[in-house]
Amino acid sequence: MKIAVIAGDGIGKDVTAEAVKVLTAAGDAFGRRFALEHLPWSADHFLKTGETLPANGYQMLREFDAIFVGALGDPRVADNRHARDILLGTRFELDLYVNYRPVKLLDDRLSPLKNRGRKDINFVVFRENTEGVYVSVGGRFKAGTDDEVALQEEINTYKGVHRIIRHAFEFAQDHGLTKVCMADKSNAMQQGHALWQRVFKAVAALYPGITATHQYIDALAMFLVKDPGQYQVIVTNNLFGDIITDIGGALQGGLGMAASGNIHPGKTSLFEPVHGSAPPLAGKNVANPIGAILSTALMLETMGKRDEARAIESAVEAAIAANQTTTDIGGSLGTTAVGDFVARQITKNK
Ligand SMILES: NC(=O)c1ccc[n+]([C@@H]2O[C@H](COP(=O)([O-])OP(=O)(O)OC[C@H]3O[C@@H](n4cnc5c(N)ncnc54)[C@H](O)[C@@H]3O)[C@@H](O)[C@H]2O)c1
Repeated sequence: MKIAVIAGDGIGKDVTAEAVKVLTAAGDAFGRRFALEHLPWSADHFLKTGETLPANGYQMLREFDAIFVGALGDPRVADNRHARDILLGTRFELDLYVNYRPVKLLDDRLSPLKNRGRKDINFVVFRENTEGVYVSVGGRFKAGTDDEVALQEEINTYKGVHRIIRHAFEFAQDHGLTKVCMADKSNAMQQGHALWQRVFKAVAALYPGITATHQYIDALAMFLVKDPGQYQVIVTNNLFGDIITDIGGALQGGLGMAASGNIHPGKTSLFEPVHGSAPPLAGKNVANPIGAILSTALMLETMGKRDEARAIESAVEAAIAANQTTTDIGGSLGTTAVGDFVARQITKNK
């Protein structure tokens, strides 16, 4: 399997080193060789060369079986241009329309909610990943004056809305789940989100075994904190999905725990931790690598390597149970020691 690795910026580099260590250990344990190609695309590379990614960069990425990204974002690149090209650009150019973010609490001790534990926090969010307000359609008129007008359009297409909602129902069916909840703001956003309503009802009718519910996004944000146990699969748009999966990260014990996939089913897809580059933590051996490590498990699961994915998840669960973790979730280890423990655990369990 050919995998492109873009460690990126800040703690992206720290956590990627551990993700690669664990992936390699899983490969060794299962007799599988992962051909990893490290691509230098990052703020450092941009500042040195003026290039965010090469002209044929997206084409290069399509040649891999999967892409792993650490994180992108650096205060020296004020307009975040490199991150936009490398990460958002890849999502759009490779049409990675499914943003898959499992929210699974791995240990009751990590729950931020009173009296809520593993049985209550276990659901997945599907965030539409190629449309919405992130398409950069708009402009500024009379910028910098008191008459400034700023427009940022939200794009919702039938194709885009249909394929993500369909994916959510297919996932539920394939995984024996019985509930899909769609969140929008159709009470206030009566054009774009009427489309989400129409498509959701039409798709739901094709899956009579699945209970389809709808919540406005503000209510859903509240219920994620008050009663997360009601959810199995949530599907929503790009912006709302971005926001609620940070709540999801908190429900898992912190942003450092959350993994994600940017997927086009059947095509080259990209896997990354949910967190950003956290510049104040960079290079200090303190970042939690678990979100990145679990992203390699998602990558393997998506590529049909379920045993390897499960081996990584079990090793992570063992690290948490033994408190062999970084300080953000109550342990006392550095980033590299957590990676070492998880990698050793995979070898031991095999
Ligand atoms: N996918 C991405 O690459 C991505 C996502 C979000 C933000 N960013 C970028 O990252 C930069 C910093 O953004 P931010 O500070 O808003 O978000 P961030 O996720 O980098 O950090 C937010 C908070 O979470 C903590 N945190 C995050 N990851 C952690 C980890 N692995 N271990 C321990 N603590 C962790 C940080 O200390 C910080 O307090 C910005 O340039 C932003 O644009 C990139």
